[in-house]
Amino acid sequence: MKNKNKAIWGTRFNKTTSKIFEKIGASIDIDKRLYEEDILGSIIHTKMLTKQKIIDKKKGNKIINGLKKIRNEIKNNKFKFNKKYEDIHLNIEKRLFKIIGSDAGYLHIARSRNDQVITDFKLWIKKASREMINRLNDLNKSFLKKAINNIQTIMPGFTHLKNAQPISFAHYLLAYIEMFKRDKKRFISNIDYINECPLGVGALAGTSYKIDRNFTSKKLGFKKPTNNSIDTVSDRDFVLDFLSTASICAMHISRFAEELIIWNSDIVKLIQIDDKMLTGSSIMPQKKNPDPAELIRGRAGKNFGALQAMLTTMKGLPLSYYKDMQEDKALAFDSYDTLLESIILTNELVKNLKPNKKRMFSLSNEGHTTATDFADYLVQNNGLSFRNAYKISAKLVNYAEKNKKKLNQLKFDEVTKIKNNLNKKVMNVFDVTNSVNLKTSYGGTSTKNIKKMISKLKKEFK
Ligand code: ARG
Repeated sequence: MKNKNKAIWGTRFNKTTSKIFEKIGASIDIDKRLYEEDILGSIIHTKMLTKQKIIDKKKGNKIINGLKKIRNEIKNNKFKFNKKYEDIHLNIEKRLFKIIGSDAGYLHIARSRNDQVITDFKLWIKKASREMINRLNDLNKSFLKKAINNIQTIMPGFTHLKNAQPISFAHYLLAYIEMFKRDKKRFISNIDYINECPLGVGALAGTSYKIDRNFTSKKLGFKKPTNNSIDTVSDRDFVLDFLSTASICAMHISRFAEELIIWNSDIVKLIQIDDKMLTGSSIMPQKKNPDPAELIRGRAGKNFGALQAMLTTMKGLPLSYYKDMQEDKALAFDSYDTLLESIILTNELVKNLKPNKKRMFSLSNEGHTTATDFADYLVQNNGLSFRNAYKISAKLVNYAEKNKKKLNQLKFDEVTKIKNNLNKKVMNVFDVTNSVNLKTSYGGTSTKNIKKMISKLKKEFK
């Protein structure tokens, strides 16, 4: 083995690494994405070592300047990553030797790749979570805008995909805003959980050097150093939190995508999607297919898969560091890339969809969607119990169904045949717009409520 290509840990090794193991064992193609975090961690670590007089200032500065040079090389695509040096940590260290010579050997005092890698990764996941939060904010703004333009758009609300009760399209859109707000909160609270700095716990036991972990923790933007060196290098909860939050968010947008696909179908025709977000068929000239929505729906599987893979990797793994855990980065990066694109694509979809207002309105009159309103009327105006009112309303639905009429097509004397002692005003309950506006309970679909909620959200998203 030629000395210049020797692994940093190669002192006691006299054989070249097996080719297939080198290929699988090297994570550089994946973890080079952590270079900024890795260099920042090394610079702060070096500053701490000099502050604590563990290495002298001159060496410290030399190391820091070398690291900055490497950062520029990587940024400008001038750095040659080498699989022989396994990962980002050793690629950088090896290069540092090339640039500043043997003083590079002082950098790795009082640390191990085990604490180094999770310091880098925690910093990266914090950054990635912030990016998710920003994109979710953008998405919510688009949903809000669409909601503002559709306060008076009446549609049937569904349960079991059967027409249930009339709702405002805006209210439906605001429902997704609530989901994305919860996703945001989860990303935010993950950042809080992540906020303990691993750097300085070494391989697993801590170190005999008089290091200052509070200094490195503070400089790297963490709240405090981690408490237990063994737990620190064993812990991948922060990866699982990220993957789980990403999965829940992917699940939310997959539900939206699915609804768009159904609503855009020729059977339902509730919405139109702009040509920008549709594709044609290679054989059927008439086709316009909602592929982007299908991709969003399908790709959620990748997010769930990453979570499942990581849980399985961690299950039963003894403390502390094992190479099993190296796979965590590919999973997190892939989940991040997938979800980020899906969120951006969903944003485009929202902007490019148009409700078929007429169709929505007429469909909201189908399926006797105001039957519950009639029952409620009888409770509120005729002193009936809800169960009795329910039975009478069911009779009215039976009558309407038999006579092939919608509830809003019934005449007053037809209604009084089912229930006597009624005021003419009862006929208002069969009006779907009226039905929507009666739902004034907090969180309900009335126009008044929606307007209030919209102005609250407007302030929130400013
Ligand atoms: N590339 C490794 C990883 O991501 C870094 C830690 C290596 N530590 C070790 N003892 N082999 O897990």
